[in-house]
Order: sequence, then structure tokens, then C-alpha cells
Amino acid sequence: MSSRIDNNKIILFGLSNQVSLAKLVAKSLKIDLTEIEKTVFADKEILVRSSKTVRNKKVYIICSINSHDALMELLLFVDSLKRASASSIMVISTYLGYSRQDRKASQREPIGAKLIARLLEISGVNKLITFDLHNPSIQGFYDIPVDDLRWVYPLTHSLIKEEKKMKFTIVSPDHGGAVRARKFAELITKDIDIAIVDKRRTGPNKSEIVGLLGDVKNKNCIIIDDIIDTGGTIVKAAEYLKKIGAKQIYLAATHGLFSKGFEIFDESNAIDKVLISDSIPNVDRINSKKIEIISLQKMISAAIDIDFNSKSMSDLYSFKKLN
Ligand code: R5P
Repeated sequence: MSSRIDNNKIILFGLSNQVSLAKLVAKSLKIDLTEIEKTVFADKEILVRSSKTVRNKKVYIICSINSHDALMELLLFVDSLKRASASSIMVISTYLGYSRQDRKASQREPIGAKLIARLLEISGVNKLITFDLHNPSIQGFYDIPVDDLRWVYPLTHSLIKEEKKMKFTIVSPDHGGAVRARKFAELITKDIDIAIVDKRRTGPNKSEIVGLLGDVKNKNCIIIDDIIDTGGTIVKAAEYLKKIGAKQIYLAATHGLFSKGFEIFDESNAIDKVLISDSIPNVDRINSKKIEIISLQKMISAAIDIDFNSKSMSDLYSFKKLN
């Protein structure tokens, strides 16, 4: 990707949990990655500061809000930048934790996604870029610009050749993901079939499958979801599809939390491949041969280039940007 960014006017940071991804972005944009000085005190409180001045600079921070520590580090760091006179602070959070708490599903529950929005805004974030929000309406929880970018673009880009040989049916593992599955299918090719698993939630991280809308018999399938957490939802869907006659089954999800490890995928004969992004900084501990990572790096680099040069984010949705 060709970049026209003046290294003297931009400051790029990677918070501790996404520093490797930030290094790749800096390299691709041919700009420096500025170091963050971090002190951890005896009581585990932290102090973070930029290693160089940010006065009147456009600042971009790459991070992933996938833990409480990461959230606190981000809030403190943004506060430091605001007080150090950065001209603007854009946060690129590859994953926005608490997005599944987007409403009061029952009495006395918090709305975590709204609270995160308030915390980020109060700290001083001016713009937010994130990927595949669990619910796109979360953009409205913010009074600053939010771009909810789509990993399906790099995903589709990497699958197009394979699709020509294999001909996939796109499957949503639940009703909530039907629009996501439809959009993904349309991106691959206009006449691709979709199917929807009829899933019922039976408790936190628990569900059962009661049927399928569509047909997968003798078809290769890609089951697409936003999040793999324990893996329960998507693995159950894969096993159900296999039982009713699907051929090869790929799983695809932007955010691979893998909170119960990878064995569940390795042990299932229904699953051929698991495609995820690097939105969660756990890539180093992935030890499953079935898992393939399709990086967000090119999209993030392109988004920074677009924002810095005041172009349109819709330019991002062109496969040319991903080459
Ligand atoms: C739920 O609505 C989400 O889209 C995911 O399907 C869910 O978070 C996956 O969780 P798990 O992997 O624990 O089943």
C-alpha cells in the first residue's frame, strides 16, 4: 500500500497488547512507532506516558480492549495524551470488550457497552475505529465518530480463489448473525446460498440447536460469527451441519477469544479449518493446526492513511486497498 504520511505530523503507538500488530502497521505506512514508557508499581497500578512530545500531533493508538488491564492502560494513556496537547487522538481498538452487553436483557443488568463508550470519551478519545461490533447500533452509544470496519473484506479477499474451487454455502450459527452471513455471502459472489442455524440460549455460554433454515446437504459450508468465545456456539453448529450431511466445514470469526483453549476445535471431526483475525492478542499461544489468521494489518494501515489524509473511509471497501 503506498502511503503519503508525513512522519513529523503523526504519532503512532501500540499499547502493550497490540504492539506487534502496531509494528507491522508502522512498517507498512513507513512511519515510526513511538515507544510508550510504562511503570508498574508494587500495588500493580500503572503509569504510562509517551516517550516523546505529542504536542499538536495527530495521534493514533492501536490496541485491543480484551481485558480489564488493557482498558485501564488505554484510559490512562489517552488521558496523558490529552493533557500533553495532542491535536487529536484516534483509538483503533481491534476488539471492543463488553460489546455483548448492549442492552438490559433482564432486570438490574448493566449496559457495559455504553459504560465503555462513556469512559473512552471522558478519557479524551476523539475518534474510534473498531472491527465487527457485536451490535452495530453501539456506534450510537458514542458522541464521537466511530467506524465499525469489516474483517469480511480481508477474509473474502483470502477466500476468493478457494471459493471458485469449493463453492461454499454461508451459514449463520444463530438468528442474530443472519445479516452478517448475508453480507458476507454477497461479498463473495451474488448467487451464493445462506443457511441459518436455529439456536436457543439456555444459559450464559450455553445453547442448543433446534433446526436449520436452508439446506447444507453435500455442500461445503463456512459458518461465520463475530466472536468465538468458548467455541460452544460455532462448534455445535458445525457438528449439527455435519450430522445433516454437510461436506467440508470452515469456521470464521473476527474475534477469537478462545477462552477455553483450542482443543474443542482439534477434537471435532466436523471442522476442517478455523479462520480468525488477529483482533485478540493471543496469536502467539495458538497451537492448533486448524487455525489460520487473516490479519487486520492492511485494513488498519489503510484506515490510518485515509484518516490522516482526510479521505473517505468507504475507499477502504475496495479489494485494491488490501493488495
Ligand atoms: C453471540 O451472540 C455471539 O455472536 C457469539 O455467537 C458468542 O459470543 C460465541 O460464544 P461462545 O463461543 O462461547 O459460544
